[in-house]
Amino acid sequence: MEECEIDRLRRNWDEKAQEWDNLLGSDGCNMRRFVSDPVLINYLGDVAGKVVIDAGCGNGYFSEKLSRLGAEVIGTDLAPAMIELAQKRAQKLQLSVDYRVDSCETLQSFADRSADIIVANYVLMDTPNLELACRAFYRVLRPGGILTCVFLHPERTELSEHEMYFDEFKKQIDLPGVTTPSFIYHRPLNSYWKAFRSCGFVVEDFDEPVAQDPSAEGFKEAWLPTYRKCADLVSFKLRKPS
Ligand SMILES: C[S@@+](CC[C@H](N)C(=O)[O-])C[C@H]1O[C@@H](n2cnc3c(N)ncnc32)[C@H](O)[C@@H]1O
Repeated sequence: MEECEIDRLRRNWDEKAQEWDNLLGSDGCNMRRFVSDPVLINYLGDVAGKVVIDAGCGNGYFSEKLSRLGAEVIGTDLAPAMIELAQKRAQKLQLSVDYRVDSCETLQSFADRSADIIVANYVLMDTPNLELACRAFYRVLRPGGILTCVFLHPERTELSEHEMYFDEFKKQIDLPGVTTPSFIYHRPLNSYWKAFRSCGFVVEDFDEPVAQDPSAEGFKEAWLPTYRKCADLVSFKLRKPS
């Protein structure tokens, strides 16, 4: 039987789980630490006692942050190798996070209206079918629940001669220190907006985040040359109406 796209993706992330873990460690990379994590945490507000799904949790570094903030965290990823790494780390740190293999495009292990918050941290440009993922998020959130997401700005996709910003296509990208090929599913920003709205989400906040403190150690070396010259990221805070 022909392997479907989601199975290809699972195999690809399984193959590079260890390399990904080496890249992110337990605190996330600079982009996450300096830029996107503070934005997500600001969107989330007080998470103590809330049921939070970290959808596409990768090695679990953000699930751990949420758990330390008092949330009841469920980390899901379609790659079993990634979930195994996340589970090992949580055990070592004695953190209580429920890690499960599941796809954002179905969230089949979750009941309807069972979560207060869903976080999609650098995942939406990585999943082949955005509409399916948005529908699954909407189904699983309780009325009034929040979806927060950060993803790579589609303006940053390096287009070849025949690729157009306004088209949707799969694209190979380079990740520092990762030898297994990586891919994104490029789609223009308006496709995200339309997918969120067509599922019923209300947009409460939106940004193209940049680092607040460019003098911070680590930030300087990596980013100063392009600081504020181009947008790296997009963030959304969305709500399922009550
Ligand atoms: C770029 S990594 C981000 C991981 C983590 N959220 C972070 O910010 O470090 C993308 C992750 O999403 C997972 N992923 C991609 N598509 C997915 C899907 N449809 N369902 C669940 N996980 C998915 C991959 O296996 C990978 O672990």
